[in-house]
Amino acid sequence: MRVLVTGGAGYIGSHVVTQLLAQDHQVHVIDDLSNSSIEGLRRVRTITGQEVGFTRADLREKDTLTSILRSFGPDAVIHLAGLKSVSESVVRPALYYNVNLNTTLVLLAAMGDAGIGRLVFSSSATVYGVPSELPLRETSAVGMGITNPYGRTKYMNELIIADHAAAHPDFSAVLLRYFNPIGAHPSGLIGEDPAQIPNNLAPYVTQVAVGRLPYLQVFGDEYDTPDGTGVRDYVHVMDLADGHVAALSHSDAGVTAVNLGTGRGTSVLELLHAFSAVVGREIPYRIVDPRPGDVAAAWADVARARAIWGWEASRTLSEACVDAWRWQRQNPNGFSAPPA
Ligand code: NAD
Ligand code: WQD
Repeated sequence: MRVLVTGGAGYIGSHVVTQLLAQDHQVHVIDDLSNSSIEGLRRVRTITGQEVGFTRADLREKDTLTSILRSFGPDAVIHLAGLKSVSESVVRPALYYNVNLNTTLVLLAAMGDAGIGRLVFSSSATVYGVPSELPLRETSAVGMGITNPYGRTKYMNELIIADHAAAHPDFSAVLLRYFNPIGAHPSGLIGEDPAQIPNNLAPYVTQVAVGRLPYLQVFGDEYDTPDGTGVRDYVHVMDLADGHVAALSHSDAGVTAVNLGTGRGTSVLELLHAFSAVVGREIPYRIVDPRPGDVAAAWADVARARAIWGWEASRTLSEACVDAWRWQRQNPNGFSAPPA
């Protein structure tokens, strides 16, 4: 297939592109590099030995997008471009609504003009807000108790895409609800490279382990969970990438939401200990107050992805820690310096 990947230079996108190329799909990436580096795509070429087309542009520039759709002629679009920092979205909500809604609106319009009717969208477990049940099923309540503008943009995107599909019978979409992506490509050549101090647990832990940050702050140890710390469903980014390849085979009309997770919950301290075992020493941490807006626990019911595509996460938490650590150790300063 010919696949346009928006945001394909980023953390998840670079792994998705790698797995698409490995399956002999032809790929073109559009990315404005606002939160990524062209070095990531160079390394994708090194890993796969294959070419990947690239246009540096803001997805909201409809003329540029239209000309890529015309010249490349994709069969499907995987849409990952957007802003993703929960904390930044609280401080700059208008920016988040502008980028995360207009990228999708412009994309839908341009796809319609070009007659392209298949979309795979990067949604998030954040749409479930405060979980109404555990594990979270695709049929669980969405939209209630989302505590930040970033999360609301993901929920609004789902509504926009569903309304668009209802109005256009020749358009279908898969909404991939990622749980907590971690890990890196096993080569250690690509991985997560946050521009600022990480918001998310795994990159924070690896930056402590490599000495860029002094200690991890564990946000609360009095939740109603086995060890009192927050529980999440950490899914290896390579499994997540394979989930996108699987989603391309989806042939149902309309819109289908699909969870991508492992179906297992892991606490902050469990993840920290798993990383410490891989790194070979204790990673320093301090228990601090809970982070406002955090839920105690969230993990996925993964039956739907297995039933419709035969996809399930196959990599372990320990493998994710090994791969994340290899990436961080080989690239202590991310893509800004050559690999060690
Ligand atoms: P990322 O920031 O590494 O990747 C996003 C990419 O989009 C970046 O390369 C960035 O430069 C690009 N981009 C941003 N605005 C753009 C614009 N206007 N035009 C063109 N390109 C633009 O983030 P990621 O972790 O790889 O996330 C990818 C997608 O998955 C995002 O939509 C994110 O919301 C979603 N998601 C991420 C997580 C997670 O924990 N990482 C969880 C659930 C969902
Ligand atoms: C995981 C656990 C924290 C950092 C967020 C977004 C969500 C999605 C993924 C995109 C929680 C604890 C964290 C730290 C800690 N992104 N923690 N110290 O909160 O599940 O989800 O990222 O869609 O929308 O909300 O992930 O990695 O931030 O936190 O103790 O320094 O780690 O309290 O229990 P979260 P996370």
